[in-house]
Amino acid sequence: MESLKKNKFITLAIETSCDETSVALVADGREVLSNVISSQIEVHRVFGGVVPEVASRHHLNNLSIVYEKAVREAGVSLKDVDLIGVTAGPGLVGALLIGIAAAKAFAYAAGKPLAGVHHIKGHISANYIEHRDLAPPFPALVVSGGHTHLIHVKGYNEYEILGRTRDDAAGEAFDKVARVLGLGYPGGPQIDEAAKGGNPHSVEFKRVMLEKDSLDFSFSGLKTGVLNYLNAKKQKGEEIIAADVAAAFQLAVVEVLVAKAMAAAAVTGGNKLVLAGGVAANSLLRSMLKKNCGKAGIDLYCPSPLLCTDNAAMIGCAAYYQYREGLVDDMTLDAYPQMAL
Ligand code: KG4
Ligand code: ZN
Repeated sequence: MESLKKNKFITLAIETSCDETSVALVADGREVLSNVISSQIEVHRVFGGVVPEVASRHHLNNLSIVYEKAVREAGVSLKDVDLIGVTAGPGLVGALLIGIAAAKAFAYAAGKPLAGVHHIKGHISANYIEHRDLAPPFPALVVSGGHTHLIHVKGYNEYEILGRTRDDAAGEAFDKVARVLGLGYPGGPQIDEAAKGGNPHSVEFKRVMLEKDSLDFSFSGLKTGVLNYLNAKKQKGEEIIAADVAAAFQLAVVEVLVAKAMAAAAVTGGNKLVLAGGVAANSLLRSMLKKNCGKAGIDLYCPSPLLCTDNAAMIGCAAYYQYREGLVDDMTLDAYPQMAL
């Protein structure tokens, strides 16, 4: 087959930090040639959450199949690739190691540079793919299963953390509340869906704002609030309407996220706000942020739902901008379950 490369800079990217095995080919940093995602949701559903050992084993089994599909869809081969990007952390160590070992093998075989990417940087970069005109600086709200951060993105590789969760991540709270409501796994999409048929004012759960002007978050109290509410209802023998609880919980999370994101936008100035991470797929969060940004004269950028959750294209984009600034790694690249941004 004739190569479709046509003088473009091609990044081969791999993401295996949690329960998605993904391989992408990205041209010139922002053009997705292919973005194959093999989700393990069905595998972990029976356990009610991600089992690290099981995730690693599935990455190992799936990676070469996902790679073959990605290069075929993109119409390129390994000899066309200019850079290998891979998630180096944070994430599940065994899962990360599978992706890193493969990335090193590809880099060695192709004789091309290797760039280890911070997963949060990847989530933010999903917006560069979706919005070709977007460039730093801007404030970003990154909300996923493992992270809730407000970040001032000053450059493609320059970040200042304005606030972060002190306990649970927003997505983690969604997943835990969905579990106690019996809505299944993963919880975020289930709560999003159930909430559409519920009354968000049926219960007023506490909005934890922390100290005045703080851009940190705390969601563990809200989670406990939901549990206490459910227990009290059960003790009184009263009916629990899952859709109402889901809607009330979702509104409590989203109101805090929106208030703090708008505060971050005010602190950093400018007229842009970027949303990223799996929870960025939440319909209420997107619509409330859009409304608030509209009122404040701020342009809101969010990725399409497929690019919100874990995928390799976002890692390829981040790797490209690292490479342009000389931020590459060698064969000593390791997996970092905890990793500073
Ligand atoms: O970014 P991601 O795919 O993985 C991590 O880096 O953690 O995010 C997964 C998280 C899960 O907690 C999932 O429940 C949540 O994103 N999520 C949502 C929605 N879709 C995914 N949360 C709320 N509403 C959604 N529609
Ligand atoms: Zn993620």
